[in-house]
Amino acid sequence: MLKKIGLIGLGTVGESVLRSLKKHAAIICQRTSIKLEVKKICDTNRAKNKLAKDLSLAFTTNPNDLINDPEIDIIVELIGGIEPAKSIIMECLKNGKSVVTANKALLADSGKQIFNLAKKNNKSVGFEASVCGAIPIIKTISEGLVSCDVKKIYGILNGTTNYVLDKMLKENIDFNTALKEAQDKGLAEKNPFLDIEGMDAHHKLCILSYLCYGVWPLSKNVYTEGIAKIGLIDILYAEELNYRIKLLAIAKKEKDCLELRVHPTLIPIDHPLAQVSLAYNAVYLDTDPAGELLFYGEGAGGVPTSSSVISDIVGIVSGNCGFIRGESKIKIKNIKDTVGRYYIRCMAQDRPGVLAEVSKILASLNISVASVTQKEKKDSKFVPIIMITHKAVEDNIRKAISRIDKLNMVQIPSQVIRIEDL
Ligand code: HSE
Repeated sequence: MLKKIGLIGLGTVGESVLRSLKKHAAIICQRTSIKLEVKKICDTNRAKNKLAKDLSLAFTTNPNDLINDPEIDIIVELIGGIEPAKSIIMECLKNGKSVVTANKALLADSGKQIFNLAKKNNKSVGFEASVCGAIPIIKTISEGLVSCDVKKIYGILNGTTNYVLDKMLKENIDFNTALKEAQDKGLAEKNPFLDIEGMDAHHKLCILSYLCYGVWPLSKNVYTEGIAKIGLIDILYAEELNYRIKLLAIAKKEKDCLELRVHPTLIPIDHPLAQVSLAYNAVYLDTDPAGELLFYGEGAGGVPTSSSVISDIVGIVSGNCGFIRGESKIKIKNIKDTVGRYYIRCMAQDRPGVLAEVSKILASLNISVASVTQKEKKDSKFVPIIMITHKAVEDNIRKAISRIDKLNMVQIPSQVIRIEDL
């Protein structure tokens, strides 16, 4: 069976898809009897014409040349961002073409609208490449785990932040030095704030929320905190306490509500997620009846991600990529109502009564301290007091920190990092 493809967006992933399609054409055909032909490629940057010449492909700078070509069956959108990607995808679906996209920001923003239009026009939207690059997590959840109740998701969904935290720990360097290394390696998004502030992981969590729970959450309901405030000091104290700090995307399903949040998290050092190093991604699922599952692999980069894009193209051609999840109306829990354990670091003067004041505030808000460490520092005015709490309500922790930070023997701001005892 011969199917014709149009590809829009010739960045790292776009170019890798074209090269991988060529390299693996024989294997795809042998395994599926499907022949894929790239009919036309498009990028607004004229200089990409050179790539088209190298690969002997027809090139245009106008996406309409692909959208309106009746011979093209599937459009691959690899531009990224909201517009013009959204208009292009909507036009394709209206024009009777299925779409493959890696665009997590767009799906998090407009997934509901896009999937409704696909359903109305009886077309498919493949989005395997939008979460965790090469890891086939979308297919796994939508097909392999179709009968499963996903009780919890803990994901390292952003390679850049994992790389930065890992380098800080292993090379004893500060945040800015580690970020510069990640950027030099070409890992970060064009706008690195999407990675660092947790928004890239946030977008991916929204997609997993749709897949696992049928909910496209409003962005404001998914609490998101990045890694910019994590100090080397916190990473090292966490290690002393047998924890490692990871940027986790977390979903927890309760009886009548859903927790969705992205933030730096202390996790036990011996949990497999703590061993995920460099820019690798991993997703841990706690499900019924499949139990606990862990998926690990490359979450970024053109070549690994091209595998997911091609898998979607083949899936659409063979009729195995029509996943549309029924929507549900489960409520998203406010972060202030969540309950957990916390790492707190206050920088305080080393003099009588400081610990008593801090403890008084914590006790007044029903926060019980599980452990406390104060390190003597002869040459500095403020010393770190590291506390691990028992389970407490987030709202109370916030109130406590705001009161602690008003004490004049404390240097602001105090650090708070959530703990997940996986
Ligand atoms: N910027 C992303 C990351 C890669 O660092 O994981 C693509 O999703």
